[in-house]
Amino acid sequence: MTDLSAFPADFAWGTATAAYQIEGATQTDGRGPSIWDTFARKPGAIHDGSTGDVAVDHYHRYPEDVRIMSELGMNAYRFSIAWSRVLPTGTGPINPAGVDFYRRLSEDLLRHGITPFVTLYHWDLPQPLEDRGGWLERDTAYRFADYAATVQGALGDLVKHWITLNEPWCSSFVGYAAGDHAPGLTLGSRSARAAHHLLLGHGLAIDALRADPEASLGITLNLYSVQPASDSPADRDAARRIDGLHNRMFLDPVLTGQYPADVLTDLGEEEWFAANPPEDLAQIARPLDFLGINYYSRHTVAAQAPVGGSPTAAHRETGRVYPGSEHLWKVDTGGPRTHMGPICPEGLLDVLELANGMAPHLDLYITENGAPFDDTVEPDGTIQDLGRIDYFERHVDACAEAIARGIPLRGYFVWSLMDNFEWAWGYSRRFGLVYVDFATQARTIKASGHWFRSFLEPPATQAT
Ligand code: FCB
Repeated sequence: MTDLSAFPADFAWGTATAAYQIEGATQTDGRGPSIWDTFARKPGAIHDGSTGDVAVDHYHRYPEDVRIMSELGMNAYRFSIAWSRVLPTGTGPINPAGVDFYRRLSEDLLRHGITPFVTLYHWDLPQPLEDRGGWLERDTAYRFADYAATVQGALGDLVKHWITLNEPWCSSFVGYAAGDHAPGLTLGSRSARAAHHLLLGHGLAIDALRADPEASLGITLNLYSVQPASDSPADRDAARRIDGLHNRMFLDPVLTGQYPADVLTDLGEEEWFAANPPEDLAQIARPLDFLGINYYSRHTVAAQAPVGGSPTAAHRETGRVYPGSEHLWKVDTGGPRTHMGPICPEGLLDVLELANGMAPHLDLYITENGAPFDDTVEPDGTIQDLGRIDYFERHVDACAEAIARGIPLRGYFVWSLMDNFEWAWGYSRRFGLVYVDFATQARTIKASGHWFRSFLEPPATQAT
């Protein structure tokens, strides 16, 4: 296992969270409803029938949570702003109490030597904007840029690192095609229009945020290492399609100002995309200061159903986007896995190489990496999540290897600080370095949290 000396002294070590997953207080201090408030109430939408109404009550307990981050030795924290806390209907007048919450949180972080990295959109569109068509409407992109400017106006003296969107792949395809996330629509290929408006909103927001010359701006994409199950043309084509929809559909426009033509053809959406103003692509490709990458696992894909195999969620999603792609399969290659798929630290290097190959001088951050396990509390009250420690050791090693190869990796954020509301899985998937007893809200640092603390603060004897 590598040690801290493999990383630059100013490397960002942080944890990541998202507003709806942790804050709770969904009806407190003037917050307006978001699509997740609505979606979570749909019967059957959430695995355990839960909602984010209370979540882990971070809205009230943030001082304890910031203290824990500092105890873990972290110097950065990625969190998201609930758009409808700041602008309760998505547009119009600001809600001062909402702004005040994020100001108090940011001030507290800075007092503890923790740099805030703010995600402006982590999936919780204000419901009134969804009622007007949500991300299928071009106007939502402009509303997003206005909101970005508003938040920067309110927090810009405290926050310099801004991430426009988190995982637009999920917002568009899981939300508007698979229907597994809010707003729960199943529109097939038309969902790609949501992707375009999200990306346009990103580009417009970048222009707005440049009002602060000190701001460091980026977007977070979920990239997958994709490999064909065999060398057959059919499997290679399956890999092309999955890589196209997951990676290239977002990387290409953001970094090169082009959509991948093969993906638009597969989607049957060439005409709609061609009818957009040609300036959109230049807007989407505005220069960035960094790219955030969320990495969890690798997809090994095949054109034929493997014997005894079963389609995964990822395939169901893709299948409902691409006409005919329900025939693509994810193959289990054996070896250890989490609920998110195979444990594959080499895949983290693949996605860093992929992004670095396209934009060699762009700073990169791993803005999420982590593992869900069924944690148990031991009789002595500890949580011995050794599988998660192993996962982190191997992925942190992969980061060290990336730096050794000269890739400008600037930081690594664990998903997640603490157990929380895992979207459609409700509270049934635990990712935290900190265990949360959802009945009492008590927080307990897991063995993986202690591991991180000692990794970040090696005993004096190990220092050079
Ligand atoms: C990512 C999301 C994050 C969390 C992790 C497990 O796709 O960005 O909110 O749900 O997965």
